[in-house]
Amino acid sequence: MSAQSAPRQRCALGQAVAVVAVCLLVVVGTYFLSSPAAAGDGETEENFSDIWRRRRSSADAGPRDDLEAALRGAAYANRTLILSVLNRAYAEEGGLLDLFLRSLREGEDTEQLIAHVLLVAMDRPAFLRCRRLGGVRCYHLPAAMDGADLSSEQLYMSHGFISMMWGRIRLLGEVLNHGYSFIFTDLDVMWLRNPLPRLEYRAEQEDLLISADNFNGRPDDYAGNELNTGFFFVASNNRTAALFDEWHAAREVSAGMKEQDVLNEMKRHGALRRFGVRARILDTARFSGFCEDSRDAREVATVHANCCRTMRAKVADLNAVLAVARRRLNGEAPSELRWPAHLECAKSWR
Ligand SMILES: *[C@@H]1O[C@H](CO)[C@@H](O)[C@H](O)[C@H]1NC(C)=O
Ligand SMILES: *[C@@H]1O[C@H](CO)[C@@H](O)[C@H](O)[C@H]1NC(C)=O
Ligand SMILES: *[C@@H]1O[C@H](CO)[C@@H](O)[C@H](O)[C@H]1NC(C)=O
Repeated sequence: MSAQSAPRQRCALGQAVAVVAVCLLVVVGTYFLSSPAAAGDGETEENFSDIWRRRRSSADAGPRDDLEAALRGAAYANRTLILSVLNRAYAEEGGLLDLFLRSLREGEDTEQLIAHVLLVAMDRPAFLRCRRLGGVRCYHLPAAMDGADLSSEQLYMSHGFISMMWGRIRLLGEVLNHGYSFIFTDLDVMWLRNPLPRLEYRAEQEDLLISADNFNGRPDDYAGNELNTGFFFVASNNRTAALFDEWHAAREVSAGMKEQDVLNEMKRHGALRRFGVRARILDTARFSGFCEDSRDAREVATVHANCCRTMRAKVADLNAVLAVARRRLNGEAPSELRWPAHLECAKSWR
């Protein structure tokens, strides 16, 4: 190679680099211009290979949006899944998210359910922690509601607490509109046994199965039982979709009320009847909580840290519940179930 040709080669190389760079700029620029959703749809963590893969899949009649894709990934063939929501405080190490997943891993016939759980993160730190866990499905809810910072612990009935509750109702309404039925569970509900068979759901005959703080013994008496929205099953149909629409819309006229109280208020005014929603109350013997402990060791499926104000207290008292549950699974505990007293939760109100 002559000494002369070297500068020419360098020049040609320089041109090629410039051309490639311009092309890249055009491609990248085109992408962001043509796809404003990429910046606003909440899933900003994706890299280009993810984005192209998604675009390709939506080109051949794939999911109609990100939510659809997430729901489809988690659901059983009958379009049913398990949903929960979390924020940064719930997702902290040793927090409610960890306890919830531990209950699923250690529970009776519950580990297989993890593949059907979709964890909806209300903020970015929660989403990142969720993804780091591995083996669980995480979805980042687009555009946090009202621009409020919902990532810290939301004390019972604080503004942030209420705001997060409403965001959750909007999300659940959208899930119904997408044609998916689901069990909604708060993260402070421990799944000790597979609740699916214990729901005894009668398809086509029931729309809403919902827990109660205290159970008056009459499952069809939804008027006489105070509904608890920490654990429920809802079937997707036009009756339940209409109920959730109205529930979320009621936010406007329910300042300072939490969504659970609003639903109970709607119920008292006949909303379930008006929409034809067929509801059944879940017995606390199977779907229990700190308000009313289950006494049935052979039947209890879930334990909710209701009647408790702070997250710290919930974590402490739920840890005690899991310890008892593990001993029982190992055959060490007597069949008569003795729950530990929920001391921290009792103190949390003072
Ligand atoms: C980018 O996408 C590839 C291919 O899907 C994936 O293996 C990788 O983990 C992704 N990286 C990040 C940072 O998400
Ligand atoms: C959906 O299918 C799963 C798995 O077969 C089953 O356990 C569950 O009970 C079904 N759900 C409904 C609502 O029918
Ligand atoms: C649901 O659909 C049925 C049949 O199309 C209709 O008769 C009923 O009024 C609808 N219910 C609600 C609450 O929209």
